[in-house]
Amino acid sequence: MSLRVAVVGSGPAGIYTAEALTRQATGPVEVDVLERLPTPYGLVRYGVAPDHTSIKSIAGYLRRVLELPGVRFLGGIEFGRDVSRDDLLACYDAVVYCTGAMVDRRMGVPGEDLPGSVAATDFVNWYCGHPDVTADRFLLDSPEVAVIGVGNVAVDVVRILAKTAEELRATDVPEEVLSRLAASRVKAVHMIGRRGPEHAKFTLKELRELGELANADVRVRPEEAAASVEGLPRQVRGNVEVLQSWAARTPAGRPRRLDVRFWMRPVEILGRDRVEALKLERTRLADGRVVGTGEFEVLPVGMVLRSVGYRSVPLPGVPFSEATMTVPNEAGRAGDREYVAGWLKRGPSGVIGTNKSDAAETVRTLLADLSGRAPVRHADLDPLLARRGLLPVTYDGWRAIEAAEAALARSLGRGERVKLAGAAAMAAVLEGRGPREDKVPDGTGRPAGLEGAAGAEGLASR
Ligand SMILES: Cc1cc2nc3c(=O)[nH]c(=O)nc-3n(C[C@H](O)[C@H](O)[C@H](O)COP(=O)(O)OP(=O)(O)OC[C@H]3O[C@@H](n4cnc5c(N)ncnc54)[C@H](O)[C@@H]3O)c2cc1C
Ligand SMILES: NC(=O)c1ccc[n+]([C@@H]2O[C@H](COP(=O)([O-])OP(=O)(O)OC[C@H]3O[C@@H](n4cnc5c(N)ncnc54)[C@H](OP(=O)(O)O)[C@@H]3O)[C@@H](O)[C@H]2O)c1
Repeated sequence: MSLRVAVVGSGPAGIYTAEALTRQATGPVEVDVLERLPTPYGLVRYGVAPDHTSIKSIAGYLRRVLELPGVRFLGGIEFGRDVSRDDLLACYDAVVYCTGAMVDRRMGVPGEDLPGSVAATDFVNWYCGHPDVTADRFLLDSPEVAVIGVGNVAVDVVRILAKTAEELRATDVPEEVLSRLAASRVKAVHMIGRRGPEHAKFTLKELRELGELANADVRVRPEEAAASVEGLPRQVRGNVEVLQSWAARTPAGRPRRLDVRFWMRPVEILGRDRVEALKLERTRLADGRVVGTGEFEVLPVGMVLRSVGYRSVPLPGVPFSEATMTVPNEAGRAGDREYVAGWLKRGPSGVIGTNKSDAAETVRTLLADLSGRAPVRHADLDPLLARRGLLPVTYDGWRAIEAAEAALARSLGRGERVKLAGAAAMAAVLEGRGPREDKVPDGTGRPAGLEGAAGAEGLASR
C-alpha cells in the first residue's frame, strides 16, 4: 500500500516537499498538492518580479515535480474553506502545511490606514496579476512615492516603479497593469531605510540593478552612506561600497529619480482623506536599538508603499505561534502526522532554494516518524470533494491556463506569456475546456464570473 501524503500549498516549499517525498521514500508514495489558487508555484508566479525572468524559469523545474508519477495537483482547493484539518487527517497518512506568508507586517504609525498607504504585498500581487487583486487597483497618479524598507522586496517594487512600461513589455505583467504603468505619473521614488547601509537587507546583485536603470537617476546622500566597511561581511561591504559610489555620482538628467535614504524612520503618514505626505525622523542606534533623534523631515508623497516584511496567517485547527508567526515545529514536525515546511515553518526569509533543504528536512522527519506504522487513513478525498460540489483544477487545467497566457502574449506581440488578469479570466479558460460545474473553484470562493472588485486603494481610483 502506498504512503499517501497531502501537501497544502504549491509554492516552492510545497513542491520541494512533494519531490523529497518521491525521492526519499523507500516504498510507493502518492502526494496530493492542494492549492487555493487554480495555478501552482506560489510566489514564483505571484511574487518574483516579472523582469527577473531567469529566476522565474525555476518554474520549469517545479513543473517536472508536478509531472512525476504519484504526484497530483489539486488547484482551487483552499484549506480551511473547502477542506479541514480533520478531513485531511482522515484521507492521508500525513499532512504537510506549506502555505507561506501572504500577509503584510504593520509599521504601527499613525496614518497607516489612509488610502494611498499600501502594503507591498498588495502592490506585488497587482503587478504580478494575482487573482486576489483586480487590475484596476492602482492608478499611479502621484509624482512622488515612498517605499519603506530596504529589503529585496522593496528593491523589486522600486524597480517596477522606476522602469518604463516599454522596458516591462516583454514580461508577463498583465496587459491592463502594463497600461497603468505606462500612464504612471511617478517622477521620484524615495526608498527609506531606518538604519544604515551596512544594515540593509537587500543583496548586492539586486542593489546593483538599481544603479543600472535606464530611466532613473539614483541618488544617495554621502552623509547617510558614510559607514566604515572594515570587518563587514563581503556582501554587506559590497552594498556599502556600491551605495558610496552612487553618492559620488552626478545625475544624468533621466526622467525619474530614485532617492535611497538611510537613518530615517517613518513616524506618521499625513493626509486628510488620503496620503498627502510622509513624516520621517532621523535615527541613530542606542545599544543596538533604533531611536529617534528629534530631527524631522516631511516628504510630499501621495503614496506610501510599506515593504517591511511578510507574515504567515494561522490555519484553522493547526497550532500557530503568535510570537514567531509560524507553526511551532521540531525539524518540521508540528503534531501527530502533521508537518510544516517553507515560510510557514521558519518565517518569511530566504530565497527559493532555501526551501529545498528545508522541505528535505521535514520529509526526513516525516518518513522516520511513519516508518513501520500501519496506514491510518480511512477515507478518500475525491468523493469528499465531489460531495461538496468541488471540482479541483487539475494539472491539465493549469496547463490550459498557461497555453492561454502564451497565446495572449503572441496576439499582443509581447514576450513568452502574458498573465490573465483576474480569477474570472482563468475560470473562463477552464470552462472552455469542456462541461464543468457552475461552481468552478477559481481560488476566490465565488462562482466563476463574479470576480471581486476589491476597493481601489492607495493612489487608486477607477
Ligand atoms: C515579492 C517577493 C519576491 C521574491 N523574489 C524572489 C526572487 O527573486 N528570488 C528568490 O530566490 N526568492 C524570492 N522570494 C522568496 C521566495 O519567493 C520564497 O522563499 C518562497 O516563495 C517561499 O515558499 P513557500 O512555499 O513557503 O511560500 P509561497 O511561495 O508563498 O507558497 C505558498 C502557497 O500556498 C498557497 N496557500 C496559501 N494558503 C492556502 C490555503 N489555505 N489552502 C491552500 N493553499 C494555500 C498559496 O496560494 C501559495 O501558492 C521572493 C519573495 C517575495 C515575497
Ligand atoms: N531577488 C531576490 O532574491 C529576492 C527578491 C525578493 C525577496 N527575496 C527574499 O524574500 C525575503 C523577504 O524580503 P522582504 O524584503 O519582504 O523582507 P526583509 O528582507 O526582512 O526586509 C524588510 C525591511 O523592512 C524594514 N522594516 C521592518 N520593519 C520596519 C518598520 N517598522 N519601519 C521601517 N522599516 C522596517 C527592515 O529594516 P530592519 O532591518 O531595520 O528591520 C528591512 O529593511 C527575504 O529573504 C528576501 O531576500 C529575495
